[in-house]
Amino acid sequence: MLSDLHTKRADSASPLSDLTRDYAQSLDAQDPLRHFRQEFLIPSKKDLKRKTLAAPDENDEEDDQRSIYLCGNSLGVQPRNVRKYIDHYLRAWALKGVTGHFVPHDDQLLPPFVSVDEAGSKLMAPIVGAKPEEVAVMGTLTANLHLLMASFYKPTQERYKIIIEGKAFPSDHYAVESQIVHHGLRPEDAMVLIEPRESQLPILTTEQILRVIDEHASSTAVILLSAIQFYTGQYFEIEKITSYAQSKGILVGWDCAHAAGNVDLQLHDWNVDFAAWCTYKYLNSGPGCMAALFVHEKHGKVEKDKIGTAEQAFRPRLSGWWGGDKQRRFLMENKFVPQTGAAGYQLSNPSVLDTSALAASLELFNRTSMAQLREKSLKITAYLERLLKYPPESLPKRTFSIITPSNPAERGAQLSLRLAPGLLDSVLEVLEEHGVVIDERKPDVIRVAPAPMYNSYVDVWEFCQVFFKACRLALDTRK
Ligand SMILES: Cc1ncc(COP(=O)(O)O)c(C=O)c1O
Repeated sequence: MLSDLHTKRADSASPLSDLTRDYAQSLDAQDPLRHFRQEFLIPSKKDLKRKTLAAPDENDEEDDQRSIYLCGNSLGVQPRNVRKYIDHYLRAWALKGVTGHFVPHDDQLLPPFVSVDEAGSKLMAPIVGAKPEEVAVMGTLTANLHLLMASFYKPTQERYKIIIEGKAFPSDHYAVESQIVHHGLRPEDAMVLIEPRESQLPILTTEQILRVIDEHASSTAVILLSAIQFYTGQYFEIEKITSYAQSKGILVGWDCAHAAGNVDLQLHDWNVDFAAWCTYKYLNSGPGCMAALFVHEKHGKVEKDKIGTAEQAFRPRLSGWWGGDKQRRFLMENKFVPQTGAAGYQLSNPSVLDTSALAASLELFNRTSMAQLREKSLKITAYLERLLKYPPESLPKRTFSIITPSNPAERGAQLSLRLAPGLLDSVLEVLEEHGVVIDERKPDVIRVAPAPMYNSYVDVWEFCQVFFKACRLALDTRK
């Protein structure tokens, strides 16, 4: 029996009773956020194996039939109320056609189409510690990084470099590289990669990052880092790094893909210059749903009295009509005056379908707070770490190691586990067979992310039982 592996050891040693399923259940019972789990459609084990999509009866699934879904760092699960939001959108479109842009309804969940972007900003801002005017829900992550760099990366003879992690997510790497080339520069000269000292443990210390900033201080225009590193799960010291780089005259941007909805960011107070993130991970908006960006209020000013003069009235950017002054939007004057703040970075009228899906999830986040979610996240990830530190005695010590920092302040929900060589494929097979959903980064890392919004302590406990068994089987078959 699968669960015997771990319960036996725990039962035979009473000081380790916090390793039992009962203990996990008791933690769930005390969890003040536990009711949120019911707001989500977590795929059942049966549904993960089905070959058709027809007639899933999502309401019939008992909790213990649900998969052990620890993959919110990749794709969040569907909030139940997405259907309601999308249905409202479909009805508004069907009943009102183009007039749906302007006609409010007594029972609307979101304002008329033309104002839906404002609703998005209001719902999103508290999640990243921003003012609503500093956030725009728009575009996609990589496209937003490009738009932001188009505005913030203005290479000069003296300052032309962009500093980025050597192991940045490929899309960020390509975006930076192509921006540099776009400006007629060579990545060999202008792209500074911060490389981890050990490729086996790709953690960057703050000191190392500050040292690279020092080395390139006078020639760097922008530093773009990930708030939480996708591979290691490392949560960087955003405030410290931002203020240090800014003290050297460098503009600082953060890719918050793995941080938004995961940790309690304070983008405004930390004085971040710009940031962008997707919404399909911890923010549960659905695959490829629209993203968001942050522009600090100090950069979003529009000085109306300077418009038409030789002086710069607003930060230059790549523009589209939706970023323009709302009062004049339909006058078709072809004189671009942006809206104040991040909204002035919008290009196109937003997808109301996308915004509806996203708003359904953001509404749940707004029923609690990132501070509360982070509090649970710290506990549930610490619990995962604790269980992983007590594998059954039959498992050799070097079967796996946790590469995510052990300091809770330096990580979010995710723990990345490096397996001994040759184990990954068999481990993944067993995890899948038992309805565990996590993701892998070949050749040997799995990423496990208990999302505080919907994961339970029992999920974590179950994962560890299956994982230990998977490791045992993988070791046996490798021999
Ligand atoms: C850190 C990071 N940057 C960029 C991307 C690319 O996102 P998108 O395809 O939405 O542009 C991802 C996607 O997972 C990511 O994790």
